[in-house]
Amino acid sequence: MCGIIGIVGKEQVADRLVDGLRRMEYRGYDSAGVCTVEGGQLIRRRAEGKLGNLVIELARNPAQGLIGIAHTRWATHGAPTTSNAHPHATEQVALVHNGIIENFKPLREALTARGRKFESETDTEVVAHLVSEQVEAGLSPQDAVKAVLPQLRGAFALAIAFRAHDDMLIGARLGSPLVVGYGEGETYLGSDALALAPLTQRITYLEEGDWVVITREGAQIFDTDNNEVTRPIVASGATAAAIEKGNYRHFMQKEIFEQPVVVAQTLRSYLRRVEQTVALPQIDFDLASINRVTIVACGTSFYAAMVAKYWFEQFARLPVDIDVASEFRYRDPVLEEGGLSLFISQSGETADTLAALRHCKAAGQTIAVVVNVPTSTMAREADLLLPTHAGPEIGVASTKAFTCQLAVLAALAAHLAVKRGRMNRAEEAAIVEHLVEVPAALNAALAHDEEIAAMAHLIAPARDVLYLGRGADYPLALEGALKLKEISYIHAEGYASGEMKHGPIALIDELVPVIVLAPSGPLFEKTVSNMQEVRARGGKVVLISDAEGIAEAGEGCLATIEMPKVHPLIAPLVYAVPVQLLAYHVAVAKGTDVDQPRNLAKSVTVE
Ligand code: F6R
Repeated sequence: MCGIIGIVGKEQVADRLVDGLRRMEYRGYDSAGVCTVEGGQLIRRRAEGKLGNLVIELARNPAQGLIGIAHTRWATHGAPTTSNAHPHATEQVALVHNGIIENFKPLREALTARGRKFESETDTEVVAHLVSEQVEAGLSPQDAVKAVLPQLRGAFALAIAFRAHDDMLIGARLGSPLVVGYGEGETYLGSDALALAPLTQRITYLEEGDWVVITREGAQIFDTDNNEVTRPIVASGATAAAIEKGNYRHFMQKEIFEQPVVVAQTLRSYLRRVEQTVALPQIDFDLASINRVTIVACGTSFYAAMVAKYWFEQFARLPVDIDVASEFRYRDPVLEEGGLSLFISQSGETADTLAALRHCKAAGQTIAVVVNVPTSTMAREADLLLPTHAGPEIGVASTKAFTCQLAVLAALAAHLAVKRGRMNRAEEAAIVEHLVEVPAALNAALAHDEEIAAMAHLIAPARDVLYLGRGADYPLALEGALKLKEISYIHAEGYASGEMKHGPIALIDELVPVIVLAPSGPLFEKTVSNMQEVRARGGKVVLISDAEGIAEAGEGCLATIEMPKVHPLIAPLVYAVPVQLLAYHVAVAKGTDVDQPRNLAKSVTVE
């Protein structure tokens, strides 16, 4: 989603602002802009499309100044045009905004009635006018912002520059993250620590409702009640290297290949290898007393939740409700007194998931989160933080975060099973051993990269692709279909193998490839029957299975991809690799923008 950067500097800022925007490109955007303050003027440059267009515009019309704000916009209100691009400005102020001003309509009507003229269709522009009105009435920038913030409903992170002040910017956050960075004689604002990585490692995460005045000397932070507050300065740990592609062609490819390392890293903090036990962070809550757990997430993280449901029920005999966050909170869910609600999110900022979390918290639930960004809002609002250690995920399509989520959820399933007396020491030790094997199994799966690349041309011309899976591999079929549609724009659907004959089979013909995920095991025969139903209707099957499965059912398939033979518990982690690689190579074959697919944003901070 939108990215914000602001610099109050001692050197020219335009190039550095654009650099900061480049580091946030991964969030997804469709226009960009900068505004500097120099000689009592606001100098604004904007362009639709990729950052390259803004760079061209700045080369034609440079923006001088030691202070400025910049933004990448992911369109919500209004098309992705130059006039809707941020910064939005009046004579007096320019500002950039991430989030949504929900009450922008009445505000805009009132402003229009007071004679203000709007240039854009955005919700953001109302804030520029509101602040401007106060400044024109003689208020200081601080008092102007103080007067306007209580009028805004919705979610926002704002960075505001003032024509008459070339020594300060004001930032504010409610619902969307904003960080302050401290340099040598410079101070920064950014949507996240990554945006500021080459500028500084000294960061303050603003809290909900905070607003901040930054100058070259530092920052003055105020809370919702306008009391000056102190927030800790922490080392961000975000390095510029973490957001570089290295020898890989795309971030997504790099992140797929990082999985053995980051999953091992994640598992290391949940497994005690010597004792062969699962260890979770301490929590002031008796996990043994839970009767039911509610898991809520969006997109790929929701598919991790689906896998977890199989595991929690099978190993811990614990009933699990799952739902996508956007549906969950509006269906008035029944939450058991004193129950546990679990939220899964790479970013820890997804607006729907965060809203669901707050709904559960207000209903008295204990809140556990599996998140990849430990400084995120969800991490901070949780009672039990279960971090994944995937490192920054830049590719818009989630890959390594997903397998790391599965690693944590498998450990949690075993822990719950032990706590509930459903797993004895020997069984727990066996689970630990299986989990320890995951990184090697991921490496074995990755070894099929070239073979999968070579078969991409079989899938690339398809208009529709179906994915089938059973049990805990059914969510993997959904995940495979999601990956393919996200980055290659091919229509793809995932189905439970047994559901095929209840409708989707009508779609089968020789032009619709069917990707079957079927490790050998007790359910294999049933899946093979479903595969035969497809083949009997001229369907072309790509079978992803282990050597045993391929020996039994591989004949006559369009292609086969051999996975290592693994315990069913770890199969979903391993089978994630071929579906990620297949989507990746098909997208490369089609020449789409793999890391920044059209219309998608990395962290969806609007509902
Ligand atoms: C798919 C993808 C999205 C995210 C979803 C949730 O590749 O990346 O579906 O999984 O937007 O995001 P998080 O996990 O950050 O809450």
